[in-house]
Amino acid sequence: MDVGTTIGALALPCPVLAASGTAGHGAELAAYGDLAALGAVVVKSLAAEPWTGNPAPRVHGTAGGAAMLNSVGLQGPGVEAWVADELPALQATGARVVVSLWGRSVGDFRKAAELVAAAPDGIAAVEVNLSCPNLDGGRHLFAQSPSDSADVIGEVVDALGGGRPVWAKLTAVTASIVEVAGAAAEAGAAAVTCINTLLGLGIDVERRSYVLGSGPAGGGLSGPAIHPVAVRAVHDVHRALPDLAVIGVGGVVSGVDAVELLLAGASAVQVGTATFADPRACWRVADELRSWCMEHGVASVRELIGAVHGR
Ligand code: SIN
Repeated sequence: MDVGTTIGALALPCPVLAASGTAGHGAELAAYGDLAALGAVVVKSLAAEPWTGNPAPRVHGTAGGAAMLNSVGLQGPGVEAWVADELPALQATGARVVVSLWGRSVGDFRKAAELVAAAPDGIAAVEVNLSCPNLDGGRHLFAQSPSDSADVIGEVVDALGGGRPVWAKLTAVTASIVEVAGAAAEAGAAAVTCINTLLGLGIDVERRSYVLGSGPAGGGLSGPAIHPVAVRAVHDVHRALPDLAVIGVGGVVSGVDAVELLLAGASAVQVGTATFADPRACWRVADELRSWCMEHGVASVRELIGAVHGR
């Protein structure tokens, strides 16, 4: 059976990708499976400069294990150090590499993209993280606004000079994710990734204090609890913008979860939080998706994409 897919013009041999923030900056997951067998590895978001991230504790299990709060705060070595120290080992695995970028301003994003433009070949795409809830208490959620999103995407596309496709990573914490997706596409995004974590907060009732080191700023909620929110976002964006490629992410723990996002309109899915519980989750989801297709007489996963819309 054919599990190949395309995201815009980018052909991938498998529709299951490792989500940003859950596979490290390099080849960490290679100890658990063949990274080249996945659609791609999206590395943890990088800024132009190194950044230390937020104080510990940075992660907290919640909702009876069905969700996780994180406030990592985008710790990373910066694009230049990543290109020198992490990218070669990741490329040596044969993985298709997607670099995720973050910034506090349009200029920050541009600077990071310029460094990527100067990097050697072998970066398949650039995912622009417009939606991290953990920067200065969520004050840099560009993806809450269509115009802010378009400003960032336009600069990144320009800085990359057309060399690499740009994906915009969006949040459901906005009045209309469809409008934001449309603005990102208009500004040059080849795809949108739906969705990042949702804004959350946890309180330790015994200590009467916050569970995360970020304190009142809280963190991002991820895992199976947010899966229906991701399905809704993918569904609504695909319905309104059927020609725009959508990558679905949010609480994917099984092949059936992946099928659901594909039916809603995703061309590919990312596995994130599940990897923390099971570092082989990406490969298991891909195997389960393949088995599901065979059991249901689906010859190509492309048959599934957007099928719930009846087009
Ligand atoms: C983080 O490092 O805080 C998570 C990144 C994100 O949610 O975009």
